[in-house]
Amino acid sequence: MNLSNIPLSLYIHLPWCEKKCPYCDFNISINKSDTDEVNLIKAIIFDIENSRVAINNRKFKSIYFGGGTPSLVKGELIGLIINFLNKNDLIANNAEISFEFNPQEVSKDYLDCIVGHGINRLSIGVQSFDDKTLSSLERNHDRERSLESLEVISLLKGVRTSIDLIYGVMGQTLTSFEGDLRTFSQFDLSHLSLYQLTIEPNTIFYKRELKIPSEERIESMERSAKKILNSNGYFQYEVSSWSPDDQKGIHNMNYWSYGDYLGVGPGAHSKITLDNGVYRSIKMKKVLSYIENPLKNNGKYIPKDEIDLDLAMNFLRIKEGVSLEDLKKNTYLFSDSFFNKLDIAVRKGLIEKDRFKATDRGYKFLNDTVNIFS
Ligand SMILES: C[S@@+](CC[C@H](N)C(=O)[O-])C[C@H]1O[C@@H](n2cnc3c(N)ncnc32)[C@H](O)[C@@H]1O
Ligand code: SF4
Repeated sequence: MNLSNIPLSLYIHLPWCEKKCPYCDFNISINKSDTDEVNLIKAIIFDIENSRVAINNRKFKSIYFGGGTPSLVKGELIGLIINFLNKNDLIANNAEISFEFNPQEVSKDYLDCIVGHGINRLSIGVQSFDDKTLSSLERNHDRERSLESLEVISLLKGVRTSIDLIYGVMGQTLTSFEGDLRTFSQFDLSHLSLYQLTIEPNTIFYKRELKIPSEERIESMERSAKKILNSNGYFQYEVSSWSPDDQKGIHNMNYWSYGDYLGVGPGAHSKITLDNGVYRSIKMKKVLSYIENPLKNNGKYIPKDEIDLDLAMNFLRIKEGVSLEDLKKNTYLFSDSFFNKLDIAVRKGLIEKDRFKATDRGYKFLNDTVNIFS
């Protein structure tokens, strides 16, 4: 296997937020200063410039500005990063370049600026179009703002658009959630990321007693989502991702189909394939620590005989799985017992026989399915 043929993506973490949402476990900071902003962009460029070994003569097939809230960073600083990548010929033809927004910052001027710099996919954290749900999530925007932000992005030409919605929120009814999906479907957007609210340790919600909807209500929400989204031309291609068949997110698909990615910015993760295994690493989490030492990382080498689980965890998230042919492209990484484990999963009815794809039961009990490969 020629390592330089493995597809490579770039993730750029821009960590600042206006406030910390009570459910959020991302690596964020609410103390943004102009000096830190400039210094972070310089550090990110320095980091990419010094990652030539990991890049290994490849060009990025996708780039993702995630956060935090990237839209809090000045548009011209985003331009500096993209100019650097262009100058060094690091962006593949037709690369997908995504950028995350909070509805609060969606303005025509800002969008014109970053699209002018080359951003071609926008992802907006709408979460809901219902004021009650937004207030349960303690978001800093309301229904009106959610709708306005969609109206602004709908006017853009040649840019792919995605929004995030959350279900399973305290006080959220089936009718309210169906309303969210119908409103989404009225706009001509290319993608939906649909997340069930998870109560993560280390979040404010974890310490509260919350009345989240019952399992039955969650299941009816999932059934409704399938019905409404399918009838509007959106199909689930991954646990939380829905789109028409030709609009799947290239960046996330690269994660799940075991491509490589370079992560830059505080707390960003990387995965780089080496001759005999995979190197996974994470950058310093604090903004100032990263600025001081952008190249420092904590890494873990996963040797060949421990890769099965890692690989199954990623591939099996994709709803349609991968063909056995595509799976076998990675055999240089499998342990000797990979195909025995696959056999067990097939016999238990968790994975299909002629495709590396979870069956309906396997998808429902995804953790059990994946753990067969441990
Ligand atoms: C980095 S944020 C997106 C951009 C932006 N910061 C925002 O919140 O609008 C990524 C998305 O993850 C989802 N998310 C974050 N924490 C979550 C949780 N605990 N449960 C479910 N979804 C969550 C939200 O939908 C959020 O929009
Ligand atoms: S959900 Fe988004 S806006 Fe809220 S704290 Fe997390 S990253 Fe920031």
